[in-house]
Amino acid sequence: MGFSEKQEALVKESWEVMKQDIPALSLYLYTMILEISPEVKGLFSFLKDTDELPRNNPKLKSHAVKVFKMVCEAAIQLREQGEVVVPGSTLKYLGSVHLQKGIVDAQFEVVKEALIRTVEKAMGEKCTEEMKDAWSEAYDQLAAAIKTEMKQEA
Ligand code: HEM
Repeated sequence: MGFSEKQEALVKESWEVMKQDIPALSLYLYTMILEISPEVKGLFSFLKDTDELPRNNPKLKSHAVKVFKMVCEAAIQLREQGEVVVPGSTLKYLGSVHLQKGIVDAQFEVVKEALIRTVEKAMGEKCTEEMKDAWSEAYDQLAAAIKTEMKQEA
């Protein structure tokens, strides 16, 4: 399925807004992840031994920003090249980290849902179904690339 200029623009536009509020939105992403699936907590080194989400934790922020930013980059690639093209070494790294952590398909869905809720939170009334669909599709394609790499490394 093609990715349109409009879809790319919707993702870019929302990422520009999200960028201005990274610490709060990173925490929001994790709040949503744990609301949807409390058991995911045990997977993250910075969550497993705490009862509360750590504020200003660099690892938490790093993972959230990687998810936001790489999905945005995936949207650009989808429009320009019709597919997600993560550089080989980065993809290998992504594959091996998530393989090592034992991340399964259902958990990719949890993070997707949490991401969409974070876009909604950031954009408020400007958030449309079309905008959410564009993020979903870009996320799915990026997640598919990571999962393929995980299978190859397994
Ligand atoms: C680590 C990216 C989805 C769980 C990482 C790292 C990257 C990354 C770059 C290395 C550490 C860092 O730089 O933060 C992504 C991207 C994703 C994605 C782009 C989506 C498209 C997921 C999902 C899960 C997950 C769905 C499962 C809930 C983890 C865990 C680590 C990790 C547990 C190790 C973090 C730690 O404990 O310090 N991810 N990830 N990731 N990822 Fe993901």
